[in-house]
Order: sequence, then structure tokens, then C-alpha cells
Amino acid sequence: MKTNFNEKVERRGTDSIKWNVNGMLGMAEYADEESIPMWVADMDFKVPNFLIEKMEERTKEGVYGYNIPSENYYKGILYWQKNRNNWDIKKDWIVTNTGVVSAICYSIKAFTEEGDGVVIQNPVYPPFKRAIEVNNRKIVNNKLKFDGKKYTIDFKDLEEKLKDPKNKMMILCNPHNPVGRVWKKEELEKIVELCLKYSITIISDEIHSDLALFNNAFTSLGTVNEKILDQLVVCTSISKTFNCAALKIANTIIPNNVMKIKFLNEMERNWDKPTANMYGAVAIESTYTKDGEIWLEELKKYLEKNYIYMKNFIEENFKNLKCIELEGTYLGWLDLREMNLEYKEIKRKIEREAKIVIDGGEIFGEEGEGFVRINFACHEDVLKEALNRLKSTFPNE
Ligand SMILES: Cc1ncc(COP(=O)(O)O)c(C=O)c1O
Repeated sequence: MKTNFNEKVERRGTDSIKWNVNGMLGMAEYADEESIPMWVADMDFKVPNFLIEKMEERTKEGVYGYNIPSENYYKGILYWQKNRNNWDIKKDWIVTNTGVVSAICYSIKAFTEEGDGVVIQNPVYPPFKRAIEVNNRKIVNNKLKFDGKKYTIDFKDLEEKLKDPKNKMMILCNPHNPVGRVWKKEELEKIVELCLKYSITIISDEIHSDLALFNNAFTSLGTVNEKILDQLVVCTSISKTFNCAALKIANTIIPNNVMKIKFLNEMERNWDKPTANMYGAVAIESTYTKDGEIWLEELKKYLEKNYIYMKNFIEENFKNLKCIELEGTYLGWLDLREMNLEYKEIKRKIEREAKIVIDGGEIFGEEGEGFVRINFACHEDVLKEALNRLKSTFPNE
């Protein structure tokens, strides 16, 4: 199987939030029909052909009544976890729901009380903060350390935060969006050790796990130390891997049965049933397979090529703009802090002159100020055009 990731897919004029000007205006102060969207984590590639065919077959059945995930659905998840992550999970541990962020919200409600502290590591995916806030818990920020090149975990500070009895939970972004780290096994071992020591429930958001690039090995938190299984929730999804966020499906792995029941009770309070929507189920069954793995490996090569192109372009054309080393995800993290303009002015020029829509680093917490996140999961020509526009907008940087 060979997928042509270089096929041009016209997304303008579709209902894509990424490509729709109104969608872009949800993030940017300015956007128009010429704007290149490099913001929300959504790729411009089509899903695998075999998935489109399965969707068509299902559509042709013509009856879309309530459905139930098949045995193949669960087999697919078990296969994927075993084959990709070397994690032997049990079918009973899986709770299907509509999204990773909703699973995080249910976990917060199921395993903490109002007023409890929940640890996150800024700069991080903004809904972590929001999920804590809207559920009246307290945000506890173990901010990542940055030495100008690489982000690492401040373990001393983490221990201080986890040892405080008011703090009950940690939400880990594994791999980390937006800084692009694929946490090493040794780093995860230390986190697990601390969570065990201080009885902290840990939620590991592994939505980007399949997108570890450049031979960086992804380690699922479920494989680090068996003892953590009794206080662990792992969030998985096909939405980033196979570009199908609109299918609204996620699988949450909860090894401890008492925790699983509490989680299910939280879902039930919202009359949210642990079942897959029809197309989501088709997608899980057909992508969590050998064919899915082949497609994914080809995708990763395309992403790696784009990232290298971007990194080299920035190194060759800019003195004051830096592209941070990336280990995984298709979200680059650019450091603008040495540029000779105020961050607000840079952002304004990016939107209005270069006409590119990217995520301002400040949305990931104040630690993200002076940075921007750029989604490079697009056709190589789109990436080249965007980089050329950046260069013409900031010729002296
Ligand atoms: C780390 C992380 N978690 C969760 C999500 C969203 O997941 P969902 O749409 O399933 O809620 C994203 C999307 O970009 C993400 O980057």
C-alpha cells in the first residue's frame, strides 16, 4: 500500500473549522480567504482509502439505528495497544466515549472533589486548564523547564506539588502538545514513582502517541510500572492519528474496576452512554489494523519531511526566530522571543501581512508567551508558501 500524501485536497469551502474564515476568526483577530490555516490540530490529508470504503459500505446499509461496538472493535483496540505500545490491556478496561477532553472532565469529577488541586504542566493544551476550572477544581501548575532548546520536567517542583495533600490528580500530556516532547521512559518512571508515593490519580492523555517521530520511542504510562494501574486513566483516540476528529470517538482505558465504575457513573449522570457512534466504530475497526499501521508509518515519513523542511528553512532564513526540536506530534513550536518586535506586533503581522493563522503561545499558559504553535500537517506546497510569506513579512529577522 502506498498512500499519496502529496495529493492536493481542497478544504476551503468545506465545513472544516480549520479552513473556514469564521472558524479561523475563533482563534485569530484577522483572517480572510487568502489566510493559510496552520492552527487547530487537524491534518489536511485524507483518511486511508480503506476507511473511506468501509464508511461507504456502512452508509449504503441505509439504516442508522442505535448500534453497539462489535467484537472486532475491541479486538482492534487490544491489537493496537499490544502491537504499538506493548501494553496488554483487557477488554473490560475500555470505556468508549465521545472525546478525550470529555474523558478528562469525567475523570476530574469522578476522582476528585470540588476545591482539590489538579496538576498540569504549562505550556500545555488549553482544555486541561479549562476542564479543571469549569469543574471548580484548582489548577496547580508544575511548569516545564526550558533551557532555550529543550523542555524538561521540573521534578523537584513536581514533588512539592504532589506532596501537598490538597492536590489529588495530575494530567499528563504524553506526548506533549505543544512542546513536542515524547517523554522518555525514565521521565515517566519518575512521575509514576511520585504519583505512587503521594497517592495521586494520574490521567495520561495519549492522543498523540502514534505520532512519535524520528525514532523517538513512545511509552504508554500503562507500561511503566504495574503498581500505577490502580490509579491510572489512559486517554486514547484515533482522531489525530487518522485525522478523524469529527467522528467524535475516544477510548478511555481504566484498569481499576472501582475507578471504572465511578467514571461510568459520571457519564451516566449526563446520560452519556459508553458506546461508539456508528462511523466512529467503523473507523476504529478498520484503522486499528495492520493496514492502519502501514498507512501511519507512511504518514509519519511525510510529517518528518515537512518538519525537517521547516526547521532547515527557519535556520537558513532567520537569525532571531527559532524552531524548537520536535520529537513527536505535527505541531511545531516556534520561539519568537529574540525577534526585534513586540510579540503582539509579530502576531499582528503574521495574521494580517503574512496571512497565516497560527496558535499564539499564550493560549497554552503564560509560559507560552513569545512562542507560536504551527501545524505542519499540510501539503508541502502549503508549508512552503507559508514559510515564504513569513520570510517576506520579516525580512530582517
Ligand atoms: C493533547 C490533546 N488532547 C485532546 C485533544 C482533543 O481531543 P478530543 O477532540 O477527543 O476531545 C487534543 C486536540 O488537539 C489534544 O492535542
